[in-house]
Amino acid sequence: MKRDSYLSELEILKSIAETLNESTELKSMLEDCLRKLLQLTSLEAGWIFLINGEGEYELAAAESLPPALSNPKHQALTQGDCWCVSRFRNGTLTKASNIMECKRLENARLGNWGDTYGLVYHATVPLKAGEEPFGLLNVAVANKETFEAHELSLLESIAYQIGTALKRIHLTMKEQDIKIAEERNRLARDLHDSVNQLLYSINVTSSAGIRLAKEMPIKEVLSDIQRMSQHAQAEMKALIWQLRPAGLAEGLACSLKKYGEMLGLEVNLSVEGISMLTSLQEETLWRIAQEAFHNTLKHSGEHKVNIVLHYKKDTVVMIVSDDGIGFQYAEETCLPSIGLKSMGERIKSMNGRMALHSKRGKGTSLKVELPI
Ligand SMILES: Nc1ncnc2c1ncn2[C@@H]1O[C@H](COP(=O)(O)OP(=O)(O)OP(=O)(O)O)[C@@H](O)[C@H]1O
Ligand SMILES: [Mg+2]
Repeated sequence: MKRDSYLSELEILKSIAETLNESTELKSMLEDCLRKLLQLTSLEAGWIFLINGEGEYELAAAESLPPALSNPKHQALTQGDCWCVSRFRNGTLTKASNIMECKRLENARLGNWGDTYGLVYHATVPLKAGEEPFGLLNVAVANKETFEAHELSLLESIAYQIGTALKRIHLTMKEQDIKIAEERNRLARDLHDSVNQLLYSINVTSSAGIRLAKEMPIKEVLSDIQRMSQHAQAEMKALIWQLRPAGLAEGLACSLKKYGEMLGLEVNLSVEGISMLTSLQEETLWRIAQEAFHNTLKHSGEHKVNIVLHYKKDTVVMIVSDDGIGFQYAEETCLPSIGLKSMGERIKSMNGRMALHSKRGKGTSLKVELPI
């Protein structure tokens, strides 16, 4: 697989390690690494699939693909299943292997999607960090049927390096999330201690002014100031709550009840089981319930909201419902608003499910289920 005789396998590994080390962004890291790999070796084409815990794959990088695989819009690599992805999913792909006939290349040939540049076979290597699997590295050379054992072994070493780099990026992303949460908490605390207290002082001072003032127009001006400061205080409180799901320290159920009551809702809460949620899962449910509360307040015509939290062994179920005016909801409706849409996106990102039931005059019920 060596292009230049002086370029030892060690040098290839060193160069790949340097490329991986330079990046902090996942996609560009994989693209750079794949490009480097093809430059340093006689490999002619390569692509990387990232595969999540649900077995869903995503084409994360591709380099020097023949038209058959890259046209139209990488169709051959983004649709359907193949041997390597199936073997990865069922856990039988543990080492670098030869894929004797690539189903995707075969499909591309049958579908006449373009020239394959003589590619029929490829090697596939699982990307792992320790036992944690991330996806697959696939590489190919025109008319090459099988990769030798030493070639597969080099690819395996490279795949380990990529797997470790993927793990590093995942950890960095997690760390960033924690930093963002900390910063939001700090901002919430500062707003609470500074602006909120000042607004409170304006409220108290104008109230004293109203009592002391003798002339009606001055009383009225001071009343206006008081009303506005109360309004600003209420807005500030809501903003602080939005910033700080750290209220979650008191537990999701308790925080939700308090938040709803702060909005002026009567919250009927029922909890079953014991919470074993991660902070990310808690925050997801918190944000969804927040939006559902606001929707009840804005649209339902009701001031009562029911919330059920059911912690089961593998899942948590949250139901937020009201007996308000309801609306005609169809899943395929494309809503111009962002509230329900971003709820859906949050749930999807946590591999959860959401069901919204509503009918005019029959209230609204939102059911969310997240795997634990
Ligand atoms: N609890 C509810 N009762 C009645 N109608 C509702 C309820 N929840 C949502 N709706 C209807 O669904 C629509 C979409 O809700 P969504 O939260 O996506 O948007 P929104 O609240 O109008 O705006 P925003 O983007 O600020 O959230 C609302 O405009 C409203 O007509
Ligand atoms: Mg809304």
